[in-house]
Amino acid sequence: MADDTKERIFQWLGNFTTSAEAPDKYLPIFKNKKIFEVLSKEKIKRVLIIGGGTCKSEQKILKTLKFKNLSLFSCDVVKPKVYETEVVKTITWIEGKISEDQVFKFSHKFDILICLATSRYFKNPFNLLANLRKHLKKNAVIIFDFYYLPPVRQKVVNVMNNWLLSEWKKDEKNAQKKLLTLSLISKELARLAKNSKIVVKDEISELGIFKGKSNIQSIIYESIFPFWSRENASLKKVSSLLTWQFLSIGNNTSKMKITNYSKKNHIKIVSLEQISKDTNILIGLN
Ligand SMILES: C[S@@+](CC[C@H](N)C(=O)[O-])C[C@H]1O[C@@H](n2cnc3c(N)ncnc32)[C@H](O)[C@@H]1O
Repeated sequence: MADDTKERIFQWLGNFTTSAEAPDKYLPIFKNKKIFEVLSKEKIKRVLIIGGGTCKSEQKILKTLKFKNLSLFSCDVVKPKVYETEVVKTITWIEGKISEDQVFKFSHKFDILICLATSRYFKNPFNLLANLRKHLKKNAVIIFDFYYLPPVRQKVVNVMNNWLLSEWKKDEKNAQKKLLTLSLISKELARLAKNSKIVVKDEISELGIFKGKSNIQSIIYESIFPFWSRENASLKKVSSLLTWQFLSIGNNTSKMKITNYSKKNHIKIVSLEQISKDTNILIGLN
C-alpha cells in the first residue's frame, strides 16, 4: 500500500488558518518584467499550478502580470480557495499529488507553469521540473522556485524530515504532541534571543553566515535549526510552521546549478533571482 503520510500531514496543515503561504512575498519579482509585456496574452490560456495550496499567491501573481480569462488547473492535495475573477475564468482542482518520477496524466498542454514553495518537498526538484515540462507547450512560461539551505541546516532539516514522517506514521496524535514540545522550546528560545544582535565581521559564507549586523535568532533560524516564533503566536501556529519546515528536503540548488541545468536543458532564462535567503526563483521559457 502506498505510504500517504506526507499527504496526511499536508492535509492537517490545511486546517490551520496560518499556513506557509504568503501571497505578497513574490510580487516584487514580477513587477517590471519586460518579458510579460511582450508576451502575447491572448495566446496564454491554460495555467498549471503545482502545489498552489489555496492558490492565493498564484492568483495575485497572475493579476500582477495582467492576465485575463485564464483557465487554472491546480494540482494539490489541498483544494484551491480562490474564486473566478476576470483574471481566472475557470478553476479545476486536480486533486492529488505529483511525484517527480511518474509521468502524469494531464489531458492538456499548458501555457504557463507555476510551481512555488513546493519543489522543496521533493527529493530532486530538477527531476520534478523535467517531468512537468513534458506538459508544457513550446515557449510556455516557467515560474519555478528552488530551495537552497546552508549545509548545517540542510542536514538538520533532513533529520527532522525523517523524524516527522516516521513519528506521524506510527501515531499521528503523538507526533502532534511532540511537535508542540518543539514549539514550546522554539518559543522560549525566541523569547531569550529576541533582542540579541551580533555584528559579524568575518563572514563564514560556506555556512550561510554573512557580514553585518544580524539578529541571533535569524542566524540560528537560517543557518542552523529552523526554530520559529513570533511573540504572541500560539503553540499550534508555531508547530504548524515548524512542520512546514520539517516537511521540506534540503537540496543543493545554487544559482550556478540552476543556470547550468537550464542551459543544458534548453530553458531560456528570463530571470533567476533570490527572493529570500533560502529561495531562488527561475522565470524562463520552455
Ligand atoms: C508551502 S505551500 C505553497 C503554496 C503556494 N504555492 C504559495 O507559495 O503560497 C506548498 C504546497 O505544496 C503542496 N504539495 C506538496 N507536495 C506536493 C505534491 N507531491 N503534489 C502536489 N502538491 C504538493 C502542499 O499540499 C502545499 O499546498
